[in-house]
Amino acid sequence: MPESPYVLVPRRMAEDARKTLASKNLLAEGLKPRRTDDGVAFPVRDGNEASKVLKRAGVPHEVGVGEFESVEKGPSSLVELLAEKLDEHPSNIPRVPFDVIGDVALVQVPPELEGHEREIAEALMEFQKGVRAVFEKGPVVGKFRIRRLKRLAGEGPPITVHREHGYELKVDLSRCYFNPRLATERRLLAEDVVEPGDRVYDACAGVGPIAVAVSRFVDDVKIACSELNPAAYRYLLHNLERNDVEGTAFLGDCREVAALLNPQDVVIVNAPTVSPDLVPHVVKACHEGSLLVVYRIAEDPKRAEEEILSAYPNLEPVGRREVKPYSPSESLYRLVFEVTKAPGGTRRNRPNRA
Ligand SMILES: C[S@@+](CC[C@H](N)C(=O)[O-])C[C@H]1O[C@@H](n2cnc3c(N)ncnc32)[C@H](O)[C@@H]1O
Repeated sequence: MPESPYVLVPRRMAEDARKTLASKNLLAEGLKPRRTDDGVAFPVRDGNEASKVLKRAGVPHEVGVGEFESVEKGPSSLVELLAEKLDEHPSNIPRVPFDVIGDVALVQVPPELEGHEREIAEALMEFQKGVRAVFEKGPVVGKFRIRRLKRLAGEGPPITVHREHGYELKVDLSRCYFNPRLATERRLLAEDVVEPGDRVYDACAGVGPIAVAVSRFVDDVKIACSELNPAAYRYLLHNLERNDVEGTAFLGDCREVAALLNPQDVVIVNAPTVSPDLVPHVVKACHEGSLLVVYRIAEDPKRAEEEILSAYPNLEPVGRREVKPYSPSESLYRLVFEVTKAPGGTRRNRPNRA
């Protein structure tokens, strides 16, 4: 049997790990992953690179070298398919990052391959059999954080149903924010921060991936959401119902909605570009002892914490996680604070924290 470097991941995270490795073209071709008593071992092209990528995605793993069975006739890699179409050697083809969201693929065209968008899209549709349409990723713009998209191949609108961790999220990618790469973070947020019975307010809910993940991974939570973008709000309502989430959703600005809510045990602000402006308002939905979760893009997480504390000082930092790199010098961080004094002044214990 052929030998290959591998990464061994816990079974419950195998699907996340596979998607993460596939999106970076790191899975070894023609070799079958192997189940072991400790998890699933994925043969990879480069153990160090795979380890870095899994570390960034928050997937615990071990790296090793071992023997793997060959697949009879494995699917060609994207790089190989593209090399064939462009009549180039695979070593001359740069990595082509892409995301598959439901049956739609979003691709980032590397500068070296500009002018070959059509071939990239065709290769991607051959490589990922379930993909119906391919769009080129443009910038994310405006307060609704919507990504500009350009169709490269395939049929139909960029409206799709994405599956992660066993739940389904319907989204129109041309009118709503959605990032499939945050699936692991959503699960870890639910597991690390939320406790059974908590009342959770997802202040900038988008189409609802955090709200749905929290209610999937933690028992008996009661969810409240707000969202400013009317299109995203419609999908949010749909996704809460589709996944049997017990909760309510408001179309509107969290700066106003927060004041209308009963005190919540966990308040989540996932709007990394504007979060310091929102914090003094969303704390109106907190009681003393609530946890406030703020996502922020920063070079230095300590400074990001200070920025939040200068927006609302009655907070105690209690946790932080680097979610993923954002640019060569910045990362997306999850910052967690305990509210030491709430504007309403109420004191309540979280259900499991008597
Ligand atoms: C980065 S996206 C995150 C969406 C969602 N939480 C997710 O993880 O996919 C930020 C979302 O916040 C919404 N938003 C921005 N400002 C807001 C505000 N003041 N009140 C409520 N929603 C807001 C945007 O429309 C967008 O859908």
